[in-house]
Amino acid sequence: MTAYVRALQAVRRHLPLENVAQDPRPLVHYATLAASSHNTQPWRFRCDRGRILIRPDLARRCPVVDPDDHHLYVSLGCAVENLLHAARAAGFEGHVSFQPECGATTVELEPRTALRTPLFEAIPRRQCTRSEYDGKALTAGELALLSRSGGADGVSVQLSTARHTRDQVADYVAEGNRRQFSSPAWKSELRTWLRYSAAEAVACGDGLYGPVMGSPSAPRWLGSLATRLALSAAAQNRRDIEGIRRSGAIAVIVSEQDDPAHWLAAGRCYQRLALQATVLGIAHAFINQPVEIASLRERFADALGIDGGRPDLVLRLGRGPTMPATLRRPVEAVIDARG
Ligand SMILES: Cc1cc2nc3c(=O)[nH]c(=O)nc-3n(C[C@H](O)[C@H](O)[C@H](O)COP(=O)(O)O)c2cc1C
Repeated sequence: MTAYVRALQAVRRHLPLENVAQDPRPLVHYATLAASSHNTQPWRFRCDRGRILIRPDLARRCPVVDPDDHHLYVSLGCAVENLLHAARAAGFEGHVSFQPECGATTVELEPRTALRTPLFEAIPRRQCTRSEYDGKALTAGELALLSRSGGADGVSVQLSTARHTRDQVADYVAEGNRRQFSSPAWKSELRTWLRYSAAEAVACGDGLYGPVMGSPSAPRWLGSLATRLALSAAAQNRRDIEGIRRSGAIAVIVSEQDDPAHWLAAGRCYQRLALQATVLGIAHAFINQPVEIASLRERFADALGIDGGRPDLVLRLGRGPTMPATLRRPVEAVIDARG
């Protein structure tokens, strides 16, 4: 783990922001600390004077779990949100525009007084934590702060501490697991993003390293064999159902419209919510199975009384033990030369 811990310390840290007008790479660093589906980091950045362009990296699509690129655009939205908080800390207001014809987002940077917000300070610490939480409901004050931080631009957050919501979500997650684990294509796609040993995780700087997911670190041959045996709906259901039961709240992020502009906004919404949760010392993890399968998604929306729109993301929140965090590729690997 030592090499992994050293790599984590190098990645998950604050950078000086004094020189961002001349060298915007620190802003890209913060953007890349965002969440992304399977930690694919499906983004490319181009930095021009006073403007940063964020484009999808289509080589990092996951066509099986994400056939319409929903998660890909959500991931880009997460990166955009981090970039905006970092820009503000560096003394710039970011103005966002999305070009649906090419899927690119432009952030125009306008000079402003620098402001290091608590959400900005939380960027290196935000992570998905797939441990079991303590089962205590979040307080009304915490729920209000989370709800206020999230929704905007045609996207809303539904937060619930109700037992019956957790039971319903657990049922749909279990059904999602049964369907996904019965798909060889789904399992094979997931395996391409698994990183078995610390050395492999550090060399790739992306994907999902065993201990992050609650599995041991192992050489590739052994990890791969163990994963083949352990990747089952029954094992996953045991973990997920207990995880949901012991959560302090469930959040569902819902877009008014089902298109890339709204998926991007849903990613921004998640990232704000997750940063706010981090500030409050609240952990979170995704349980997206019910919204990843189109036919299940519709039934899930009906069951939860979601009237119109697309349920984009499902999360469990609560307080629990920390887990190792994920790595990122170097900033240089995701920046394109100026065109
Ligand atoms: C759109 C999207 C979908 C995700 N779906 C899941 C999921 O279903 N299950 C899960 O455990 N993590 C999920 N994740 C979390 C990613 O695996 C995680 O963001 C990535 O590994 C980077 O780690 P970090 O968020 O802890 O920095 C999702 C993330 C995004 C942005």
